[in-house]
Amino acid sequence: MLALLLTVAALGAAALFFLQLYRTESRLRTPWTPDRSSRLFAQRPLPPPVEGTFLSSPHYTLPLRTRGRDVVDARGRRFKLASVNWYGASDELMVPGGLDVRHRREIARAVRRLGFNSVRLPYSDEMVATNPPVDARLVAANPDLAGARALDVYVAVVEALTAEGVAVVVNNHITSATWCCGADPCDAGWANDHLPAALCRVRQTEDQWIEHWETVMARLADNPLVIGADLRNEVRGLWGTMPWARWAAAAERAGNRLLRMNPDWLIIVGGTESQNDLTGVATRPVVLDLPDRVVYSAHVYSWSGWGSWGGRYATRSYPSFVQSARKNWAYLVEGDVAPVWVGEFGAPRSPGRGDANYWNNLLRYLKTIDADFGYWALNPRKPRHNETETYALLEDDWVTPVLDYRLKDLTELMRAGTTT
Ligand SMILES: *[C@@H]1O[C@H](CO)[C@@H](O)[C@H](O)[C@H]1NC(C)=O
Repeated sequence: MLALLLTVAALGAAALFFLQLYRTESRLRTPWTPDRSSRLFAQRPLPPPVEGTFLSSPHYTLPLRTRGRDVVDARGRRFKLASVNWYGASDELMVPGGLDVRHRREIARAVRRLGFNSVRLPYSDEMVATNPPVDARLVAANPDLAGARALDVYVAVVEALTAEGVAVVVNNHITSATWCCGADPCDAGWANDHLPAALCRVRQTEDQWIEHWETVMARLADNPLVIGADLRNEVRGLWGTMPWARWAAAAERAGNRLLRMNPDWLIIVGGTESQNDLTGVATRPVVLDLPDRVVYSAHVYSWSGWGSWGGRYATRSYPSFVQSARKNWAYLVEGDVAPVWVGEFGAPRSPGRGDANYWNNLLRYLKTIDADFGYWALNPRKPRHNETETYALLEDDWVTPVLDYRLKDLTELMRAGTTT
């Protein structure tokens, strides 16, 4: 009898737990109704970019260095990275998105018109190692690139951006050419030669990773608006097993090799655990042969915080979110220790309440600390199956801005700390 009662009680408790979970998830997915300021923003034309925030403006004197929490120019004037990610080169097709729809010059102009002064441009190691001729259909709107190889297309896109005065941060995103970041352990770090040979389609040693970097950067070393190398996207280990010190040492080896090619590049180092965790910097900073070159990078999404006591960022209050961000990365900014570029974050065009909660907390905090940032992403379409990208800031024509709550906040964030 007692056993039966206990079983019934346990089943009841489990049912309540799942009901509660279901209710919470449904609430997070309930569509968010845009607030008044977002609705007003959508009715007006996009405000023009602030010219003084671009590196091409006469305000700035290259090269860039770091000073405390800021990236600064040769005269000490802060250059805030207001960036957007333009993906595609690191994916299956090995070509930045949109070149089938628009000439790269027009897309570069659209980036500038949105107000972004810099672009994070991901590539895969496989793109560099195989460097295949690209399918002419993928560059249909760029007939001058017909027959070009993947790396030539990549370089042409960089040059189109810098010709518009938009700075570029090159990013090694993933080893095999595919959407990042799946569960494949072969893509979880900068090298995979410690894994069984049969496991990885694309095998890579640390040396090869650095050689690929040198191949890409050799093509860009004379371009002053190529400002930095974001060494590796979302380094991670199985169940949190990537020691920061191991990654920091590899980042130093790669960073020093690149600085021998061009001493003026910023070397960007992401945190471990999918770029969430920069706590190790406090005791083990990245130290390069040349000082004042290291910029750290954090990625912050609505699902970040997963598995922690405080829960995912979609569910957290503002104080709880700030506490987590501060512990993971923002202590470096608030303590004026080193710059942290929030190199990826983003939300869908039609957010649920959880997305909106995350977004509002994050953007409020980024404005408060006047952060360097890189929104994910520009692209209206994903490379696979030409799927719609709900995080896009451009419509399918690759030039028309999506005027909603995201661009409203990004526009405000771009202007945070400026007097113009
Ligand atoms: C993807 O869809 C867009 C919008 O319909 C279209 O302009 C583009 O040509 C498509 N690309 C491919 C490769 O199908």
